[in-house]
Amino acid sequence: MQPDLFPLLQDPALQQAIASINGATMPLSEARIPALDRGFLFGDAVYEVLRVYRGRPWLFNEHMQRLAYSLGEIHLAGINLDRLRQRILQVLAQSGFAEAMVYIQITRGAAPRRHPFPAGAVPLELFYVQEFDDPYIEARRAGVQAMTFPDLRWQRCDIKSTNLLGNVLARQAAAERGCTEALFCRPDGTVSEGTHTSLFAVASGRLITPPRGTAILPGITRSTILSLAGRLQVATEERPLFQSQLRSFTELFVTGTTSEVLPVVAVDGAAIGNRQPGPITRRMQEAYREMVSGEY
Ligand code: PDD
Repeated sequence: MQPDLFPLLQDPALQQAIASINGATMPLSEARIPALDRGFLFGDAVYEVLRVYRGRPWLFNEHMQRLAYSLGEIHLAGINLDRLRQRILQVLAQSGFAEAMVYIQITRGAAPRRHPFPAGAVPLELFYVQEFDDPYIEARRAGVQAMTFPDLRWQRCDIKSTNLLGNVLARQAAAERGCTEALFCRPDGTVSEGTHTSLFAVASGRLITPPRGTAILPGITRSTILSLAGRLQVATEERPLFQSQLRSFTELFVTGTTSEVLPVVAVDGAAIGNRQPGPITRRMQEAYREMVSGEY
């Protein structure tokens, strides 16, 4: 018997969570991955995070499409995404969770440790479903502090890869400074996104977000916010945001599947606007909430 390597898994929410590995379901605390899995050894894996509201996976199609894109970009073929989707719905129904999160990760599977793709490896399809106790309620109301941090990541941030060390180091630096999010600054002077969120700014009443490309993840909440802004007749622009301009924006917010719309009221200690969530941020928060609760 191994010593207990997973003391943090004693958390009650995780005790209830259900995992599925290539179709076999088990309590998450009992899920085990082979030591030679390439996701573990090389970060040779992609992932998705979905939110479940009132028992239904939110923007399920969009997340599965992005997963298909990530799989395609890392040349990981042969994953049956329809079957994966059915399995997620089954496990979710079995869990009985209404407010939940689904984490999905596909790796190139276990093989002798050599860099090229292994012939004949069976990809590992892991997902787990966990009840979601929203940690951002107060942060959405009051807004959060953020800091800037160098973007140390690789050059394909459009792929949702599990290589997240650049994100982890930035988010840890933020935590050590009492900040909720770190915003990535690139050598060209632009600010691209957060460690796990997309970035929006407001200037002259217009909502601005960096353009799609290899520097950012194409956030699903980001595109939802852009289309909601269109419906609300808030002008939008997809263009680079520069670090030197940050303090001149009247509002700033970040978006993500679990964060939703999170106002940023200070960056590197300097106030954004009057250090309160601004009017466009509030409108976007409300519209997003209405959409989630089915009023759109
Ligand atoms: N993060 N940018 C990065 C780098 C992200 O990791 C994420 C999502 C986003 C927002 O994307 P979306 O709106 O599709 O969630 C932007 C997930 C939630 C995570 O790693 O936990």
